[in-house]
Amino acid sequence: MGNRGKFITFEGCDGCGKSTQLRLLNEYLVANEIPHIFTREPGGGKISEAIREILLNGKNAEMTDECEALLYAAARAQHLKDRVEPALAQGKLVICDRYVDSSLAYQAYARGLGVEFVEKINAFALEKYRPDVTIFIDLTPEEAFARKHGADENDRLEQAGMSFHQKVYDGYKRIAEAEPNRVVCVSGRQTPQQVFDDVLHILRARGIL
Ligand code: TYD
Repeated sequence: MGNRGKFITFEGCDGCGKSTQLRLLNEYLVANEIPHIFTREPGGGKISEAIREILLNGKNAEMTDECEALLYAAARAQHLKDRVEPALAQGKLVICDRYVDSSLAYQAYARGLGVEFVEKINAFALEKYRPDVTIFIDLTPEEAFARKHGADENDRLEQAGMSFHQKVYDGYKRIAEAEPNRVVCVSGRQTPQQVFDDVLHILRARGIL
């Protein structure tokens, strides 16, 4: 088998326009016949999708922060084995919608569990599967929610309120500052096509496309 594939992750606050970018990138990769897979966290496989259901279910409001962080890490462990590793081994580009930075932004910074705890429970991922590049779509929660006309009432996390999402955003900014070589910020205050042009530019500059 040839070279190992590249691992690209997308991050951002809820409603930052990530899904649209992932759709545009998928269309581009299909049109250009670039071997790839798209996947997401939490989820991306049978067991990890079942964990996702527990995590995002509005009925589980009493879940402790530690339980939440551990379930994200558990879903990640399974997902890496089920989907990410096989595709990388086949030389495919792996595009993942959220990864460990989401756990850092949401659980370590916003929930307040701290970076040390979250890094520790994600050590298996951090040591073996560092993304080649992480694209952070930079849009504040105020701007994101204004676009979305408010939160989805069935989504446990989106009900967490603006101050929580502001902490998530601040967490992402800290991650981006700490690892400027891996994390590239793209302004989300542009048209979807302009954001996508930036994404393509980054992936080309890194030799990924
Ligand atoms: P999803 O509906 O996929 O949101 P989005 O389209 O914004 O990605 O829900 C994923 C939610 O899970 C999102 O609110 C972020 C959260 N999350 C964490 O809190 N920690 C994590 O490690 C991951 C992967 C996601």
